Amino acid sequence: MGQSILLGVSGGIAAYKSVDLVRRLRENAHTVRVVMTQAAQSFVTPLTFQAVSGYPVGCDLLDAESEAAMDHISLARFAEKIIIAPASADVIARLAQGMANDLLTAICLATTAPIAIVPAMNHRMWHNPITQANVAKLQQFGYAVWGPDEGTQACGEYGLGRMLEPEAIVTHIENKNSVTPLHRKTIVITAGPTREPLDPVRFISNRSSGKMGYALAAAAAQSGAKVILISGPTALAPPKNVQLISIETATQMYETVMQQIPQCDIFIGAAAVADFRPTTAAPQKSSKNEFSSTLSLTANPDIIRAVAQFTPKPLTIGFAAETHDVKLHAMRKWENKGLDAIIANQVGLAEGGFDSDVNSVELYSAEGMVQFPRQSKIELAHHLIEWISNYYGKQTKDSIKNIG
Ligand code: CTP
Repeated sequence: MGQSILLGVSGGIAAYKSVDLVRRLRENAHTVRVVMTQAAQSFVTPLTFQAVSGYPVGCDLLDAESEAAMDHISLARFAEKIIIAPASADVIARLAQGMANDLLTAICLATTAPIAIVPAMNHRMWHNPITQANVAKLQQFGYAVWGPDEGTQACGEYGLGRMLEPEAIVTHIENKNSVTPLHRKTIVITAGPTREPLDPVRFISNRSSGKMGYALAAAAAQSGAKVILISGPTALAPPKNVQLISIETATQMYETVMQQIPQCDIFIGAAAVADFRPTTAAPQKSSKNEFSSTLSLTANPDIIRAVAQFTPKPLTIGFAAETHDVKLHAMRKWENKGLDAIIANQVGLAEGGFDSDVNSVELYSAEGMVQFPRQSKIELAHHLIEWISNYYGKQTKDSIKNIG
């Protein structure tokens, strides 16, 4: 069914693609009203969007005439959904600050509709930690983030920051409209590293940032799932509509996961669980003279293996981060741990893997291998959740057939 969509267009060369986006949305029976920032009008004229949307275009917050015709509160009420495409670094920063210094940002502050941003900017601007922090803040407040894509940019440089193609944006919009197989399902996701204490100030840990697990949790929540994120220490803000349970050690993660499994439909093990812990942790800070040159270690429980052995078994998906022989190791873990699927990626390269904002992965299941090319972890998480949703949908259909 057609919806009332408010399309915000901010400044960027990708604004020309949004003209095609409006056309496609109207073809799918949506009513589209366009609001442009001042910078956007340097790239495409309001008249173009008026012609393609069939409605006057909102440009000014303080313009008496346009305010009388359709003020920012009416536009905020009109919108069942707000999509900002392209979303420039500037508009993302202003939204993250809660500013309302133009029509688009005022509407976003006044609306109760879900908002999605589709970033488009130079790759260095996208990777800038300030932009990343602004994007994370918006996600925390429930904004969806679609893209960006990687490719050659308008400036001639290559990187992550291209706006998604209109077709991909429409897919995101239509997916959010339909009830996915994940709707109201419980998904438990582990993320981040674990810390294994040697004493109250020292620990053994690893380089996991938690970004992939948190992005999966956000994407799963946006697909309508009830998400429980069990996370080791990270520097990340918890995604909106996700229940975060913070733990430190692998043993705590194991115990917390096992408490949740009886109610769990899908388990995703994205955590980099420490395989071993110091056999004894000193109750007080040890001086260096008290450490022996050998460390006695005890194996931690294999959490995902225990989940896969649970009855009834949730759909169980693991990760394998490998520096070499990725396929070989991934297939071995898939089989040994009794997983339904494993998502494998190479780590130890200059980019991708731990602490990076981008990743490329291969997913192995009984259906064979699917490749997910290099993209932002946010976008990758949406694609992986889409795959998981389809796979889960097929599995549950099969089990209903078997019962029948
Ligand atoms: N995993 C887990 N519990 C552990 C170790 C790993 O749940 N104690 C999960 C991870 O979350 C991931 C998958 O198992 O989904 C693979 O993790 P990895 O560390 O690559 O596997 P290991 O069994 O530790 O294999 P190895 O150290 O031999 O590479």
